[in-house]
Order: sequence, then C-alpha cells, then structure tokens
Amino acid sequence: MKNRRVLAVMAGLFWLLSPAAAPAQTPAEKTHGIELEKQVLIVHRGYTEAAKQCIECHSKNTPGIVENWKNGKMGHATVSCYDCHVVEKDSPMASQCEGLKGTDIYTSPMISSQTCSKCHPREAEQFLKSGHARLAGVPVLESDGMQSLMYLNEGAGFLGVEKGSPVNNASRAAGCQACHGGQVELGKDNKPVNATWPGGVGTRYPDGSIGNCTVCHTRHQFSVAEARKPEACASCHLGPDHPNIEIYNESKHGQIYLAHGDKWNFEAAPDTWEPGDYHSPTCAVCHMSGIGDVTTTHNVNERLKWDLMHKRSELRKNERGDGEKGDRLMRQVCKNCHSSLHTNYQRELLDSAVALYNTYWDKAVAMKKELKEKNLLGKDPWKDGFQELMYYLWHHTGRRARQGTAMNGPDYSHWHGFFQVFQVYKDMEAIYKKRLETGKIEDLSTVMSTGPI
Ligand code: HEC
Ligand code: HEC
Ligand code: HEC
Ligand code: HEC
Ligand code: HEC
Ligand code: HEC
Ligand code: HEC
Ligand code: HEC
Repeated sequence: MKNRRVLAVMAGLFWLLSPAAAPAQTPAEKTHGIELEKQVLIVHRGYTEAAKQCIECHSKNTPGIVENWKNGKMGHATVSCYDCHVVEKDSPMASQCEGLKGTDIYTSPMISSQTCSKCHPREAEQFLKSGHARLAGVPVLESDGMQSLMYLNEGAGFLGVEKGSPVNNASRAAGCQACHGGQVELGKDNKPVNATWPGGVGTRYPDGSIGNCTVCHTRHQFSVAEARKPEACASCHLGPDHPNIEIYNESKHGQIYLAHGDKWNFEAAPDTWEPGDYHSPTCAVCHMSGIGDVTTTHNVNERLKWDLMHKRSELRKNERGDGEKGDRLMRQVCKNCHSSLHTNYQRELLDSAVALYNTYWDKAVAMKKELKEKNLLGKDPWKDGFQELMYYLWHHTGRRARQGTAMNGPDYSHWHGFFQVFQVYKDMEAIYKKRLETGKIEDLSTVMSTGPI
C-alpha cells in the first residue's frame, strides 16, 4: 500500500519534470504565474526549483492545503511552503517528508512563532509577552494540581490506568492541550509523538520556541479578516468557565455584529481598520486592533486592568500586565464610540463588581481557614462538598459574574453570575455551620457531580 503511494508520487514528479508537462504554459500570466491543470498546480515563475516542487507535489497529495495557501495573502506574496517548513539539517525538528527522502532538504511539520518572527518580528515580540505564550502552557506542564487533575482524576489514574499511557493522556491531549498547548515530544525520526502535537496557543516546541500563531489566523490562509472576527477567539473562549463568546453574543455589541457584521469591511490594512469599517467592536477591536490613538498589539494583556480569571481579582502586574495602563488604554478604546460619561460609568461598574465578588471570596477563604484549623476539611477536594462549591464559586459562577460585567452581558453578570455566586455561597455557609455544629464532615459530598456548572 505504502509502496504504491510512493510510486504514484514518483510518477507524478516525473510527469511534472518531463517536457510533456509543458503544454500548460501560455495562459499562466493571468493568474500570478500559477495555474490549475488537471488538479495539479504548475508553477512557472516566482519560486526557486526547490520551492516549486513542494507546491506541485503537494497539490496532488494534500490539495486542500495548497488551495488554502494559494488564496491567502502570503500565497499571493509568494511566501511558500519552503519558507515556513524547510529547516536546517541540524535543527532538533529536522525530518524529511515522504517526497523529499534522499534529498538534502529537511522539513518540519512543527512551526512556532519563531518561524513567523523571521518576517513578523513585532507581532511575535508582543505575542511572546502575553498570557497566550509561556503562561498558557503553565497549567498543562508546570502545575502539580493540574497534573493531578489531568492524569489522576480525568485520566482515571485512580482506576488504575497507567500514568503516561495513551489512554491516560487522552483527556489532556483532547482538551487542555488543544487550547493551552503543551510540550511537543519527538520520536526517533524527529516527528511528533504521544499526541503532543498539534497544540493550542502556548505550544512549546522541541527547539525551545513557544507559541502557535495560527490559532487565530488558521493555516494555510493566515487571514487577518478571520482574526478580526469573534469566531477566531470562540474556539477557546467559551463554555461554563469563561463564556466570552456567549457574553459577547448577548451583548449589544454582539447583537450589532450578528445583525450587520456580514456587511462590514474586515480586510482593511493593519492599523487602518477603524469604526466605519465596523459599527460595534469585536473581541479584536477591544483587545488587539488599533483604534483611534491606540495602536495594534499582539499582547492581549496590554489593555486589561483586573485579573478576572483567578480566585481573587487583583490589579494586573508583572507578567500579567500593568493594570493602570491597561485601564487607560481600554477607556480610550471605548471613547472612540461612547462618551466619557458612558465609559466612566461602565469602568466604575466593573470595579464595583470586582469588589463585590472579592467580598464573597474573602469570606469563603475565612470559612475554609477555620474548617482547616478544626480538622473539618476533607483530604480530597473533589469529594468534599465545601471545597467543590468553593471551586465553582470562583472558577465558574464568579468568573461569569466578573466577565459578564466587564463585557456588558447582563444575563451572565446576573443569572449565570451573581445569582449563582450567592446561591453557592449560601450552600457553602450551610455546610460550614453544620460541620462546626456536629464536629464532623458529611459522609458523602452534598455536591457530587451535580455542581452548579
Ligand atoms: C506562513 C507559513 C506557512 C506556509 C507558507 C505553509 N505552511 Fe504548512 N504549516 C504552517 C503552520 C504554522 C503549520 C502548523 C504547525 C504547528 O502547529 O506546529 C503547518 C502545518 C502543515 C502541515 C501539517 C499539518 C496537517 O494538516 O497535515 C502540512 C502537511 C503543511 N503545513 C504543508 C504545507 C504546504 C504543502 C505548504 C505550501 C503549499 C505549506 N504548508 C505552507 C505554516 C506554513
Ligand atoms: C514528490 C512529492 C513531494 C514533494 C516534492 C514534497 N512533498 Fe511534502 N509530503 C509528500 C507526501 C506524500 C507527504 C505525506 C502526506 C501524507 O502523510 O498523507 C508529505 C508530507 C509533508 C509534510 C507533513 C509532515 C511529514 O513529514 O509527513 C510537510 C510539512 C511537507 N510534506 C512539506 C513539504 C515541503 C516544505 C516540501 C518542499 C521543500 C515538500 N513537502 C516537498 C510529498 C512531497
Ligand atoms: C518569509 C517571510 C514570511 C514568513 C516566514 C511569514 N510571513 Fe506572514 N507575511 C509575509 C508577507 C510578505 C506578508 C504580506 C502579504 C501581503 O499582504 O502582500 C505577510 C502577511 C501575513 C499576514 C496578513 C495576511 C492578511 O490577511 O492580510 C498574516 C496574518 C501573517 N503574515 C501571518 C504569518 C504567520 C502566522 C507566520 C508563521 C506561521 C508567517 N506569517 C510567516 C511574510 C512572511
Ligand atoms: C489571539 C489571536 C491572535 C494570535 C494568537 C496571533 N494573531 Fe496576528 N492578528 C490578530 C488580529 C486580531 C489581527 C488584526 C489586527 C488589526 O486589526 O489590524 C492580527 C494581525 C496580524 C498581522 C497583520 C499585521 C498587523 O500587525 O496587524 C500579522 C502579520 C500577524 N497578525 C502575524 C501574527 C504572528 C506572527 C503571530 C504569532 C507570533 C500572530 N499573528 C498571532 C490576532 C492574532
Ligand atoms: C487556541 C485557544 C485560544 C484562542 C483561539 C484564543 N485564546 Fe485567548 N487565551 C487562551 C488561553 C489558554 C488563555 C489563558 C492563558 C493563561 O494561562 O494565562 C487565554 C487568555 C486570554 C486573555 C487573558 C490574558 C491573560 O492570560 O492574562 C485574553 C484577553 C485573551 N485570551 C483574548 C483572546 C482574544 C481576543 C482572542 C481572539 C482574537 C483569543 N484570546 C483567542 C486561549 C486562546
Ligand atoms: C476550550 C479551551 C480550553 C480548555 C479545553 C481548557 N482551558 Fe484552561 N483556559 C482556557 C481559557 C480561554 C482561559 C482563560 C480564562 C479567562 O481569562 O477567564 C483558561 C484559563 C486556565 C487557567 C488559569 C490561567 C493560568 O495560567 O493560571 C488554568 C489554570 C487552566 N485554564 C487550566 C486548564 C486545564 C488544566 C485544562 C484541562 C484539564 C484546561 N484548562 C482546559 C481555555 C481552555
Ligand atoms: C467592548 C469591548 C470588549 C469586547 C467586544 C470584548 N471584550 Fe473582553 N474584555 C473587555 C474588558 C473591558 C475586560 C476587562 C478588562 C479590565 O480588566 O479592565 C475584558 C476581559 C476579557 C477577558 C478576561 C481576562 C481575565 O482577566 O481573565 C478575556 C479572556 C476576554 N476579555 C476575551 C474576550 C473575547 C474572547 C471576546 C470576544 C468573544 C471579548 N473579550 C470581547 C472588553 C471587551
Ligand atoms: C466601535 C464602536 C464601539 C466601541 C469601541 C465600544 N462600543 Fe459599546 N456600543 C457601541 C454601539 C453602537 C452600541 C449600541 C448602542 C445602542 O444600543 O443603541 C454599544 C452599546 C454598549 C452598551 C450597552 C448600553 C447602551 O449604551 O445601550 C454598553 C454597556 C457598552 N456599549 C459598553 C462599552 C464599553 C465599556 C466599551 C469599551 C470597553 C465599548 N462599549 C466600546 C459601539 C461601541
């Protein structure tokens, strides 16, 4: 089977290189020197011989990739397979694809932000400073608590599934890693193994480089228009614990995008995309794109004041950004379309919502401290009602309340947010009081698998 495939590929190559391949030459000028002939792309100019062969052979064996590439802006600018996939022989990721065996050309299917930085240094530098780079890989790779969640609990290690086996890895690979990214591991032929590739935004590559630029501009079109649409963020920013796309769709901004977005201009050149091209902000407008005096950034942390994802919301600092500067920049974004009156009110409302949530959290921490001192906390937090609820308090309901307020989705601020924050808190308080009264931990978790998700 495999031999037949190689033979077919070789035959195709000879056909392309032989003079018989020539008939397709005349109409080529019309289409940037590229034309489609019997489903095989024949390239006449603009590329070196070595770069041409990738396109020609791949137009047969992976036609979908070539079609997407050829319709993207980089395809038009003759940035080709060769520019991104060819690596030095001594690169830790160097291997040879099936069509290149026996040549002195080495390729890698793995491509990190470092390859893109050769031509887009500014975007890569900003990206590397953001939570989308190193920090995104921390939960998957560096946190003991998360390791235990992924391999012991979700990987059914507690049922005896062997640590590190494909079955044990399945939940990490199919879930966390696809959004966050993990460490790519290599087999003997330098190709990725153990379901560690491809990965999410913070993927770490075998040469030490970090980050997958294509989560927002997907391969092989790499389109700016795509990244400017909310759908580009929605594959990761959704669900019960960070429902950003749901909040957006229910906000006035989302209402306008959903009603009119198909008529907006998403193609404007970088830093020229302004209100008028669109009528309400998408995720990119508030978090990344240039607008008015605010310049485009690939550092999504730059315009944030609060940390709205962790247990207690604090002003952003150090690796997480600069909260005061973030506040100034975000206000500037709003003021392109809203008055100062409107903007200041919204920003103060967010500060109040953060303070309200933090009040619940601080009280919960105080109850937990007392239970711990009195030996009334279960060892396994996933079997202890109080601790399970405390997780939902910040990770689900509390995030929804905070992020719903930040991004103007009242249903998430309230019904999925503060309403449930208060209910969860009341239940925690009841368990706390009961434990103090009886001096005992309940036999079974009162929350079990039916938590307020
Ligand atoms: C601008 C850079 C760039 C160009 C140009 C490019 N690629 Fe890619 N390609 C990527 C990136 C990025 C990935 C994903 C790498 C990762 O996740 O580590 C990828 C992945 C791939 C993969 C493996 C994934 C899969 O779906 O099977 C193949 C095969 C591939 N590219 C072939 C091609 C071919 C053929 C061309 C030329 C027509 C090409 N690429 C042009 C950047 C590029
Ligand atoms: C003679 C045909 C041929 C040529 C020339 C060729 N390839 Fe391939 N390539 C293949 C085939 C066949 C595969 C395997 C496809 C599959 O697995 O279904 C492949 C796979 C790949 C992959 C996926 C990873 C891997 O190693 O399997 C990448 C990336 C890739 N080629 C890039 C390139 C680049 C870059 C060039 C030009 C420098 C090139 N190819 C030239 C035939 C070719
Ligand atoms: C060899 C240089 C080179 C490399 C490597 C390269 N690019 Fe580009 N890229 C360009 C050029 C040139 C353009 C401008 C194309 C145009 O608009 O004419 C461009 C444009 C873009 C655009 C704008 C497309 C649009 O719709 O306007 C994006 C996004 C992009 N590149 C992303 C990437 C990513 C992601 C990588 C790495 C996977 C990468 N580039 C690697 C040269 C490169
Ligand atoms: C979180 C999503 C996201 C990621 C990850 C991302 N981009 Fe972008 N990118 C965007 C958005 C949104 C724009 C459009 C900005 C605007 O409106 O001008 C953009 C624009 C671009 C452009 C056009 C020029 C510019 O700066 O506006 C290039 C080139 C580019 N990105 C390259 C990259 C590279 C290289 C990486 C990885 C280092 C990367 N992108 C990672 C969302 C992303
Ligand atoms: C492939 C998944 C993925 C995509 C697509 C994605 N993100 Fe993210 N984003 C993440 C992850 C994972 C984190 C958490 C990083 C961490 O651990 O700190 C994150 C964090 C963030 C943060 C908080 C920064 C921090 O870490 O403190 C912002 C803001 C953000 N993303 C905005 C966006 C926007 C806007 C888009 C679309 C233009 C987008 N993201 C696309 C996965 C993604
Ligand atoms: C659907 C995509 C997705 C999946 C699957 C996912 N996450 Fe996340 N994760 C995100 C996003 C997006 C954020 C940013 C949340 C925010 O800003 O509120 C995040 C934030 C986090 C954070 C807080 C940020 C930090 O660096 O401290 C941790 C920890 C985390 N995730 C761990 C995990 C673990 C472990 C798994 C698997 C058991 C997982 N996540 C699965 C998308 C995902
Ligand atoms: C109207 C502007 C606006 C739009 C549109 C918008 N956001 Fe936000 N976003 C904000 C503001 C404001 C905050 C809170 C900033 C602060 O801390 O001051 C925020 C916070 C966030 C956070 C939380 C970071 C943390 O601290 O955990 C993430 C993640 C995020 N946004 C992603 C998205 C995504 C994804 C979309 C689109 C689906 C989106 N945003 C749409 C304005 C916006
Ligand atoms: C590109 C323009 C634009 C930007 C930027 C923008 N908005 Fe809006 N916003 C609108 C439009 C248009 C409406 C709809 C007004 C209506 O309902 O008639 C709206 C509505 C709202 C609403 C609903 C209440 C109302 O006024 O009807 C809130 C709240 C809001 N925006 C907050 C913000 C905040 C906070 C920011 C900055 C983080 C921001 N907006 C940035 C255009 C924008």
